[in-house]
Amino acid sequence: MRDRIVIANWKMNGSREANRQWVKNFLAQPVKLACRTVVCAPFIHLPELVEACRGSSIEVGAEDVNENVSGAFTGEVSAAMLAEFGLSCAIVGHSERRRLYGETDNRVAMKAVALVRNGLKPIVCVGETLEERERGDTPAVILRQLNAVLSVIRPSDLGAVAYEPVWAIGTGRSADPETAQAVHACIRQRLVQANAAEGRLVPILYGGSVTPDNAAGLFRQPDIDGALVGGASLNASSFYRIGEALCEH
Ligand code: 13P
Repeated sequence: MRDRIVIANWKMNGSREANRQWVKNFLAQPVKLACRTVVCAPFIHLPELVEACRGSSIEVGAEDVNENVSGAFTGEVSAAMLAEFGLSCAIVGHSERRRLYGETDNRVAMKAVALVRNGLKPIVCVGETLEERERGDTPAVILRQLNAVLSVIRPSDLGAVAYEPVWAIGTGRSADPETAQAVHACIRQRLVQANAAEGRLVPILYGGSVTPDNAAGLFRQPDIDGALVGGASLNASSFYRIGEALCEH
């Protein structure tokens, strides 16, 4: 059985007090979720978040990592540093990093390797822009992004692959379940081609305007194993309800 996971990506949001409240509110829900729950937060908040979540059902991850071991990379954080603080995973290849900071497929792949070498699981994001979709290039873009990572790590090294269509992120316009499933099936096929036994076990998450209202429809699809949630994850009870929808399907 594949893991089912909901991951919060807080992006550049939160504060020490808001984060404490979030964890308190999330853990105050009467029923513990039967799926895995991960919160990815800005680097500076991670140590306190790890402490706040210690012994609970919440795992903590980073939103990014530098691919180098150490050295003159001002402002950057290495995978070994993340491992020392007890993190379980980190997001790599988020479209905001690809678009705003010029991250290439090759760099994303190197980041994934750095994480694996330090015992962390990469959450690899892939996704097409609206122009790429309209040109009919979606499968080619997704496969190019995925191939870069699969050329350097095995499917069993992956924490998850997250399909995040760029046009659906922060727009309130989620991909409809069938559209997302078609891309998830293509990702699954590529993972299984890399290694059949391992590829079947990699969770494939959908991200892009997921809310408690549209989550159930997405989670009914056979290859949608969870969600990577931005805006709706900033509220603990909204994020919990997305987790609940996942546990029910
Ligand atoms: P939204 O849920 O705000 O659309 O963001 C999705 C995302 O980018 C998660 O990584």
